[in-house]
Amino acid sequence: LSLKDLAGRHVLVTAGPTREYLDPVRFISNPSSGKMGFAVAERALARGARVTLVSGPSHLEAPPGAELVRVESALEMQAACEAAWDSVDIGVLTAAVADYRAAQRSGEKQAKAAGPLSVELVPNPDIAAGLGARKGARVLVGFAMETHAGVERAAGKASRKNLDFILLNYPTREGSGFGGDDNEVTLVTPSGEAQAWPRLSKLEVADRLLDQAVAGLRAKQQP
Ligand code: PMT
Repeated sequence: LSLKDLAGRHVLVTAGPTREYLDPVRFISNPSSGKMGFAVAERALARGARVTLVSGPSHLEAPPGAELVRVESALEMQAACEAAWDSVDIGVLTAAVADYRAAQRSGEKQAKAAGPLSVELVPNPDIAAGLGARKGARVLVGFAMETHAGVERAAGKASRKNLDFILLNYPTREGSGFGGDDNEVTLVTPSGEAQAWPRLSKLEVADRLLDQAVAGLRAKQQP
């Protein structure tokens, strides 16, 4: 494999959590640090790609050379991804996108009331499915976090979102998922074939997934 096997390619990476504000000081979010996505961006750059990194709130510094687009909400993340998509060859969606946002976002801080509080939530758009619907000869890779029936649920997501493959990681397992420097993943295809990878650093997971994506791209773009 050539060291610069992504030269001339444009890679879109989503990273981090999204924040869905209820009012100016409160939001719904999750513990994603951005590490998995920033690792993919770093390795894709090292392999010669142009990289657009669309990131929700993260304390990490973008790797030099990445075109960083900082966003907060799922709607902003979607707009940034859709705007980049035309020129993209490989999309790697590591972001932990909030599935819901508040139906009404209050412009003022909501006062505490005596009793229970109900908040109406509406579903966010599925960024992966939107990109997958106009995939063409691109390669689109997702991640999945499942606590149970992992392979089956991940395959269902890969199939519904038109992903080439999805990397299942395990939020309840040490060395996998949110926050740490390592990840333990299982590659799952839309038809449900599964290949477990050992626990690796997120940089190593990034390289392995890029190996798969490059192979997929070559296979699709053969005359
Ligand atoms: O950031 P780190 O701390 O390093 O943690 C990395 C990670 C655990 C967040 C990452 O490895 C991971 O698993 N990301 C996906 C988390 C997730 O919740 O996935 P999901 O099963 O909800 O979604 C499946 C796929 O669809 C994902 O590629 C997701 O980015 C995408 N998606 C989901 C919902 C939505 N509205 N739009 C999307 O594009």
